[in-house]
Amino acid sequence: MNKSFSVVLALFFLAQLVSAQSMSNQEMEKKIDEILNQLTLREKVDLCHAQSKFSTAGVARLGIPEIWMSDGPHGVRGEINWNDWGYAGWTNDSITAFPALTALAASFNPELSYEYGFALGEEARYREKDILLGPGVNIYRTPYNGRNFEYMGEDPYLASIMVVPYIKGVQKNGVAACVKHYALNNQEHDRHVIDVKADDRTLHEIYLPAFKAAVQQGGVWSLMGAYNQYNGQFATHNKVLMNDILKGDWNFDGVVVSDWGSTHSTMEAALNGLDIEMGTFTNGLTFSMNFPYHDYNLANPFYEKIKSGEIPESVVNDKARRILRLMLRTNMNPNRPLGRMNNQEHSDVARKVATEGIVLLKNENNFFPLKETKGLTIAVIGENATKPMTIGGGSSELKAKYEISPLAGIQNRFADATILHAMGYSSGPSAYGRVIESPLNQDSLFQNAVETAAKADIVLFVGGLNKNFQQDCEGGDRISYDLPFNQNKLLKAVLEVNSSVGVVLVSGNAVAMPWLKDVNAVMQAWYLGSEAGNAIADVISGDVNPSGKLPFSFPININDNAAHSFGEESYPGVNKTQEYKEGILVGYRWFDTKKIKPQFSFGFGLSYTTFAYSNMQTDKKAYGKDDEVKVSFTLTNTGNVAGAEIAQLYVSDPKSSVMRPVKELKGFDKVMLQPGESKEVSITVPVSSFAYYAVDSKSWVVEPGDFILQVNSSATDNQLKKKIKVN
Ligand code: BGC
Repeated sequence: MNKSFSVVLALFFLAQLVSAQSMSNQEMEKKIDEILNQLTLREKVDLCHAQSKFSTAGVARLGIPEIWMSDGPHGVRGEINWNDWGYAGWTNDSITAFPALTALAASFNPELSYEYGFALGEEARYREKDILLGPGVNIYRTPYNGRNFEYMGEDPYLASIMVVPYIKGVQKNGVAACVKHYALNNQEHDRHVIDVKADDRTLHEIYLPAFKAAVQQGGVWSLMGAYNQYNGQFATHNKVLMNDILKGDWNFDGVVVSDWGSTHSTMEAALNGLDIEMGTFTNGLTFSMNFPYHDYNLANPFYEKIKSGEIPESVVNDKARRILRLMLRTNMNPNRPLGRMNNQEHSDVARKVATEGIVLLKNENNFFPLKETKGLTIAVIGENATKPMTIGGGSSELKAKYEISPLAGIQNRFADATILHAMGYSSGPSAYGRVIESPLNQDSLFQNAVETAAKADIVLFVGGLNKNFQQDCEGGDRISYDLPFNQNKLLKAVLEVNSSVGVVLVSGNAVAMPWLKDVNAVMQAWYLGSEAGNAIADVISGDVNPSGKLPFSFPININDNAAHSFGEESYPGVNKTQEYKEGILVGYRWFDTKKIKPQFSFGFGLSYTTFAYSNMQTDKKAYGKDDEVKVSFTLTNTGNVAGAEIAQLYVSDPKSSVMRPVKELKGFDKVMLQPGESKEVSITVPVSSFAYYAVDSKSWVVEPGDFILQVNSSATDNQLKKKIKVN
């Protein structure tokens, strides 16, 4: 390359990195005033509702652009038709598919979350999107929820830490992130109607923190209202959620976008904080009228009510102001970078997240990594070894430029071995809202798989769930905790003919594992996007030492899960109402408090090496309420390979005037160590984060007294402990 050209190129990429927000807040508000003064009432109203499935109108006579949105959250979705949910058939909309957010959460790596958000934001920008509909941070309450794979697990602290850099990365490109689905949208069953009752403490301690972090620390420019109701009012225009908390307490200055078809009333939408109405007159996904946009709640009916004085004009002015603010941050920002797509760097980010997210759950006799495979016969059994997982699942479905299947990844990496493959079952094609039976003969698939397994030295069983309806898919929940499609039986039959079996679970949810004691190894491999097969092969081969940890607990039985243990009123609800009876005791908080042993606990994950923790110190013995506690300890890699350990800091308040979970995650650090290497690790936590939410005073309270700090390698594996005092 000629030198001056490479300088120009370098400057060009530098310009791309310049922050998208180059106007001061004051200049921005002044600009908004100028624009607002020129808009007619009709033009302001028309900013507040869809003009197509994924866009809102601009003001053509003034050069104010349209807003274009796209799903989210794992890649930029293929182009959708103007008026219905069909794909538009463009040929320039294939993208990099990034791993699902469960995998990102399992990496416990906030820097990687930034890289993920930035790369995804670049793709959204290149595809000329102004709002990317993600990330999702609904808390993992039940393994049945069809959309858990899109979210960041069961712990509000982990989700908060991971969501903030994702948002910053996306928005660095002049593309708004849209954190969703606010709030209490923790199941798909009856999602359009279910009325959730959760007490205030539960709401504030468990279900809101990640949204609050997205707003206050991530500075997110938009947020999506959820389908469900909360205390008898739809979440999308719920006074408490939107006016009191989001726009009141948290000072959110961005735009509230409805979910597609989550708006039900003009008065409530107008007065309770909704800014842009999308997708109304659809049941969410399956049909839409021809030109219904002017009949939206925030279209003609809104206009008429302002005209008649029933709704003050200040209401639409506030919405238009927020929308223009979003535009000045995105499509009216002349300095925003240009974005790029399908470049090697994005594939590299996808692969890095995928390998760091994989969690090794069992590894008897060092089954993994597979070394010295020359001349071996490896049977790869299971439909998930070849089924594309970027397809299906609902709105997060992607049109991936490429997707390396687990089988292809294994074949490429282990070229010196003989690789056999048998599906074992066929789940049928993916279809929205229904299950389609496969036309293939299941008995012969089963038989063939067992015969194939019998011929091999090693079996890799690549199973799990998939993106079909009632699996890991939007619009419905799972109907059983067991592996579907007869996989338990298939595994049993495989184990009868071959005792060397490692399981690679491709799923976004916990599953029952009645075969756990009989298999040699289990690897949780999530939905890993374009680089899935390569990442799986990286870890199976030991090219990458696994370091992911579970972002949610795996119960042994479904009724060990808190939500399920309270029966139907708690999950899935009775008469379209449900009560979160477990309150704040979600995930490990429940297992700890009730002394129930999970199959695998939150924060658990093995490595090809081992770690030792020692010498825990705190910088003081007693702290004030506004202090920070600096915890330090030594972490040593005691094995033979380099590896990263995620050390977790949990805090307990043993004597409290209110019930508290046994312990709660308040900090973590992911530390890379060479064999034999030791590092001093320090984790700093503010004492204020030890607080509980006091319902009466509506405030966060830290009660003076002793607190126990635990350094753990998982929620159930305590390594070090120390008591401190808070005065
Ligand atoms: C989903 C949202 C999605 C929207 C647009 C809805 O059905 O709940 O998460 O962003 O559709 O596709």
